[in-house]
Amino acid sequence: MSEQAVEGSALGARVEAPFGRRACEVTRNLESGGYRIFSALDPSGPEPAPGQFYMLAAESGWGFEDGRPYLARAFSFADCEPEAGGLRLDFLVEAVGPGTRRLAASEAGTRLWVTGPLGRPFSPPGTLTEGASGAILVGGGIGIAPLAIWRRRLSGAGIPARVLLGFRDREHSGGLELFDCSEIRLASEDGHTGHRGYVTDLLSVMLEGDDATGAAVYACGPPAMLEAVRTLCASAGVACELAMEAPMACGFGACFGCAVPMADGTYMRLCVDGPVVRGEEIETALIPGSGH
Ligand SMILES: Cc1cc2nc3c(=O)[nH]c(=O)nc-3n(C[C@H](O)[C@H](O)[C@H](O)COP(=O)(O)OP(=O)(O)OC[C@H]3O[C@@H](n4cnc5c(N)ncnc54)[C@H](O)[C@@H]3O)c2cc1C
Ligand code: FES
Repeated sequence: MSEQAVEGSALGARVEAPFGRRACEVTRNLESGGYRIFSALDPSGPEPAPGQFYMLAAESGWGFEDGRPYLARAFSFADCEPEAGGLRLDFLVEAVGPGTRRLAASEAGTRLWVTGPLGRPFSPPGTLTEGASGAILVGGGIGIAPLAIWRRRLSGAGIPARVLLGFRDREHSGGLELFDCSEIRLASEDGHTGHRGYVTDLLSVMLEGDDATGAAVYACGPPAMLEAVRTLCASAGVACELAMEAPMACGFGACFGCAVPMADGTYMRLCVDGPVVRGEEIETALIPGSGH
């Protein structure tokens, strides 16, 4: 098996979604610190690639008295495993508004409408920088979700990954059990775990190491964190990919609600040209309306 292939599919290849949405049964919903992990059994969708996302809506109770939310919401998948009856998709959710609150409350046996997998996934280190043989994963808050499955796939392909995760405070943290590895370095702004400060402090130190240029950096988290990662990597001459967020209404290129300015002065639709983008492709990771 090649170093950058796993389970027969190329690492980093975009997986196309089947047409339309499909109903998937929620099979579990667990508390994880201040977040929740819920799983849905996808009876017919293809195996997604790490960094891709789904548009999710609960089958019932999705519209409230004031009429919102009625659009599906974007979610990275944190893990997936074939099981009897389909593919188990795991999601990490932080309840920040009506849609995420409804999904966080979805009980086993209820159903979700699922569209996906959508978007562009992470690329292996060797395709970002010639000769790069390792990865540094930097996650902030709920943005740790896509890095969990990416670490697992990199590890399966024999590519070493160092994991740096940061949280604002105890209430805004969770999901660590999605990383089935012991070597995680943690940071928290309130000091409740790990280094007191930002996760980018840990990255800054790591990028000063002699082996930094042999790695590519992958980050997902709030816009200010992504922008710090982008500028740190640019100064260190290390390639990076950022899994970004923007308000998404459709998820498949039709509404232009997710337009993000690019470094060359044009715009991309983050749902089809992202959500994973290379650091040098964008002007800034500080996207208005994104992050919470
Ligand atoms: C590609 C992608 C992957 C995502 N993955 C996850 C995930 O794995 N887990 C998770 O909990 N959330 C994830 N999100 C964010 C999630 O989609 C939003 O939090 C959700 O749409 C909010 O809906 P709501 O109805 O709960 O709140 P709303 O009332 O719509 O918004 C509540 C707050 O969230 C902010 N917000 C709304 N939509 C977005 C958005 N799309 N991106 C960023 N901020 C937003 C608003 O500014 C507001 O402060 C992802 C977003 C994208 C674009
Ligand atoms: S969310 Fe509609 S075009 Fe991107």
